[in-house]
Amino acid sequence: MWWQDAVVYQVYPRSFQDSDGDGIGDLRGIEQRLDHLAWLGVDALWLSPIYPSPMHDFGYDVADYKGVDPVFGSLDDFDRVVDAARERGLRVLMDVVPCHTSIEHPWFREHPDWYIWRDEPNNWLSAFGGPAWSSLNGRWYLHSFYPEQPDLDWRNPEVVDAMQDALRFWIERGIAGYRVDAIDRLLKDPELRDDPPASDPYGLPVSDDEAKLALTNSRNAPDTGSALAKMREAVGDHLLVGEVYLPSAKWQPYLEHLDVAFAFELLLADWDAAVMRRAIEGSTRRPGAAWVLSNHDFGRLGTRFGHANARAAALMLLTLPGPAFLYQGDEIGQADGPGGERAYDRAGRDRFRHPMQWDPSSTGGFTSGEPWLPAVDPERTNVEAQHDDPRSMLSLVRDLLTQRRLLGGGLELLDAAPGVLAYARGDHAIAINTTGEERPAPASGDVVLETGPGALRKGTLAPHAGVISMGLPGSQKG
Ligand code: NOJ
Repeated sequence: MWWQDAVVYQVYPRSFQDSDGDGIGDLRGIEQRLDHLAWLGVDALWLSPIYPSPMHDFGYDVADYKGVDPVFGSLDDFDRVVDAARERGLRVLMDVVPCHTSIEHPWFREHPDWYIWRDEPNNWLSAFGGPAWSSLNGRWYLHSFYPEQPDLDWRNPEVVDAMQDALRFWIERGIAGYRVDAIDRLLKDPELRDDPPASDPYGLPVSDDEAKLALTNSRNAPDTGSALAKMREAVGDHLLVGEVYLPSAKWQPYLEHLDVAFAFELLLADWDAAVMRRAIEGSTRRPGAAWVLSNHDFGRLGTRFGHANARAAALMLLTLPGPAFLYQGDEIGQADGPGGERAYDRAGRDRFRHPMQWDPSSTGGFTSGEPWLPAVDPERTNVEAQHDDPRSMLSLVRDLLTQRRLLGGGLELLDAAPGVLAYARGDHAIAINTTGEERPAPASGDVVLETGPGALRKGTLAPHAGVISMGLPGSQKG
């Protein structure tokens, strides 16, 4: 399967490249920048939503599953992106948002019975805080996210038909598959019973209010698989990547129908060798992990793990077995920003969505107009400056993309000094020093790739360093 070890580049369309000077990225802009992705060596790009939307959640509130929002361009522009990508050997993934629509989707008016209603709210909580219910005309509708995102009722066969139709639409236009949004929220308790009080931790970070509840009725219903099977039926053997916000121990019913699920345990792990080792161990107990360390919801490698660790984080992301997802800008170590003068996202995620920095100009080459969010530091961090510098983060990421094709299959976690994460991929060993001090490296052969000069010297890993080397002494395997 093409995606088995693929690297998928996440494009956040609003912030990638503006082609018409309105300060918002668009499909023509993406087309213009495809050479960057081909040069980098990724296999595919995933487009965060481009559907018509009132943009209360920047496209994750879909008002028409079979169109393109005019701010991003047209269906023709979309077809051009798919064709231009294909010419460069790149596949395109779309983002499908099956759990909820926009409150402005005509379905909400025309088919209220496609949504989930109650006479009184229960105790379910919205992911963004507060109750998951809002009132309308004397009744309450469910919204697992913002009130502008009413939840669809996947137990209604008409909803299933409509969504299958939407899924087929883009497959027929030549996409390679979907990233499936918030899929653990697809089916809930059919009787809409309260979430009971929590008896165990959820297993992934949740809000303080959510942590008090077991969250067993508001999501992840036992019959979720039946809905996923319908999605699978619509897309055939095209790729389905699940955004399943559950610990990996609960992935099984999802992986019966989806191909892979994002490994949130690693995404949300502290930069600590022991914690990351546990997360990798858990997520690789069965096949199906898709690796991701940053995206438009959680922030960037360089900021979350610290600037000093960004290179080692990229090395880890791109040497684990299975598909890896790289967020735009991480290849140059772009940092999160402060957001803009105006706050757009009520959940505070603007800071992860600043425009891509292509060159040192004030807008980073993103737009000829006024960018919707300002560039963060294009004079310091940009594609152009790093392009031909063999020591740049961009060159490291490009080299990693080449090197990952040479790694052996499987994964074996290795014993290592405290603070060092080490694993074998066939006859290659990977070692990452997660600390700010020198650490003994696991014994190994010649270095084939390092995060910087002197990463490994005389058996010692430099602070924050990562290396790929050849050869493994048998006694090291743990
Ligand atoms: C996950 C998406 O990544 C996020 O941006 C969005 O707010 C929620 N799902 C709701 O669709």
